Amino acid sequence: MTTRKGIILAGGSGTRLHPITEGVSKQLLPIYDKPMIYYPLTVLMLAGIREIAVITTPHDQDQFRRALGDGARWGVALDYIVQEKPEGLAQAYVLADGFLGGAPSAMVLGDNIFFGHGLPELMAGAPEAGGTVFGYHVADPERYGVVDFAPDGTVQSIVEKPARAPSNYAVTGLYFLDGTAPERARDVTPSERGELEITTLLETYLADGSLRVEKMGRGYAWLDTGTHTSLLDAGNFVRTLQQRQGLQAGCPEEVAYQQGWIDADAVAAMADRYGKTEYGTYLGKLLDPTR
Ligand code: G1P
Repeated sequence: MTTRKGIILAGGSGTRLHPITEGVSKQLLPIYDKPMIYYPLTVLMLAGIREIAVITTPHDQDQFRRALGDGARWGVALDYIVQEKPEGLAQAYVLADGFLGGAPSAMVLGDNIFFGHGLPELMAGAPEAGGTVFGYHVADPERYGVVDFAPDGTVQSIVEKPARAPSNYAVTGLYFLDGTAPERARDVTPSERGELEITTLLETYLADGSLRVEKMGRGYAWLDTGTHTSLLDAGNFVRTLQQRQGLQAGCPEEVAYQQGWIDADAVAAMADRYGKTEYGTYLGKLLDPTR
């Protein structure tokens, strides 16, 4: 059992996806057959985390409560925290300080989609002390925090949205940080774009020699949902995969059942709730040991 707590950062106004995000939060938009936030939620669940804070804008919190409830149906406990203004990823740690109560944490961005067979093991390798982040090879690193490697392969810095990227390795939106993250975040000063940058927070760990940057290899998918095109691409990816395999990606009921956090009756109840949808049928099949 991990002592780690989870944070899903789902604030932000989603302006880049207007007009679709004028009435609904970005992280609740569909990625094929389920809300976007199911995917990062299941990532934390696959890390064995059962206490999770969902950080939202003040006006979106109700939507998230409707979509996710208190988490009991998945054997997890969800807390809701408000971020008044989208003032940067590092601010999440300041806001979640009371919730974390000194515990180490895993924070995942509510719009990041991860897929890969070895993900639980990869995450289990993150020690409780210090920080662990994941570098993922992308074609367009300038859009992200980018890892700058020294010739010997050690990490010399992480640069936020550089004009010229020092490598193709973007830092994904999944951060394993120890219990010192909130106090470090409090010392972060706003960047030129007026945000408390996660990169600046990570730099403090790097300066201490306590930041691990693990490569997330090409066998993983880390998908972007930041534009209309990439949003659709992510949905198509999930559709292709699920249709071929007959297995769900990002299904919290399945993960909870596998983890032993909910029993067969609870799964059956959820299957009933979703009735004759493909999702409901899938949940029903989870209970068939011969499938
Ligand atoms: C943020 C971080 C960046 C990270 C990215 C991952 O970018 O600042 O370092 O690589 O998330 O999704 P933003 O979403 O603020 O553009």
